[in-house]
Amino acid sequence: MSVIERLLGRSGANSRGHGVVLTPMRKRDLRAGVMQIEAQCYPRPWSANVFAGELEQVRSGTRTYLVARRHGVIVGYGGLWFAAGEAHVTNIAVDPRMRRHGIGRQLLLALADEAIARSCPAWTLEVRVSSHGAQELYREFGFEPAGVRTRYYENVEDAIVMWCHDIQSGAYRRRLDEIRQGVTDAS
Ligand SMILES: CC(C)(COP(=O)(O)OP(=O)(O)OC[C@H]1O[C@@H](n2cnc3c(N)ncnc32)[C@H](O)[C@@H]1OP(=O)(O)O)[C@@H](O)C(=O)NCCC(=O)NCCS
Repeated sequence: MSVIERLLGRSGANSRGHGVVLTPMRKRDLRAGVMQIEAQCYPRPWSANVFAGELEQVRSGTRTYLVARRHGVIVGYGGLWFAAGEAHVTNIAVDPRMRRHGIGRQLLLALADEAIARSCPAWTLEVRVSSHGAQELYREFGFEPAGVRTRYYENVEDAIVMWCHDIQSGAYRRRLDEIRQGVTDAS
């Protein structure tokens, strides 16, 4: 059982806020909402096969995927790839009708917990140059721009590579606690 599953099993503050519940993504979640949100979020959405391939990697311990539900309905999801000792955010998306309710923040909090529990010293991601909202969210979690991948998306749009280091430090845990406190206070 992963750390996230254990945390979620407790149904504690990490999994809840604004009536949002996080659970490990299952294959059946793809047709139950994930694919629909994915199609609404990206010009080149992942196919069901790509998601299924990612979920198969969960068993080998190289991936973690979560779904966020509100009133039982899937409203978002996110995942990590563990490689070379670091955690890489592969995907994070929230139903366009449910944005700015802290769901992305809660997903990232749970993913951060998992990266820390897996002893990763750092985590990283790529984000579209045009995704200012996502960049704002990532900055809140301590990610900083570290480079640009030219024409990374659709061979057109650049990606900003962001890194967040020292995530095992007390300072980073305190940062997460502050974010978590904000979620708890608002719920
Ligand atoms: C990025 C995304 C996952 C954020 O999800 P969300 O649930 O709306 O995010 P939250 O409500 O948790 O936002 C947390 C904070 O991030 C920042 N933020 C998020 N979206 C923002 C926006 N559109 N504009 C400005 N700031 C934004 C704000 O600081 C926000 O805090 P606030 O609402 O208290 O001001 C969502 O916009 C999304 O699915 N986008 C499309 C897919 C995508 O681009 N994913 C990222 C791939 S790298």
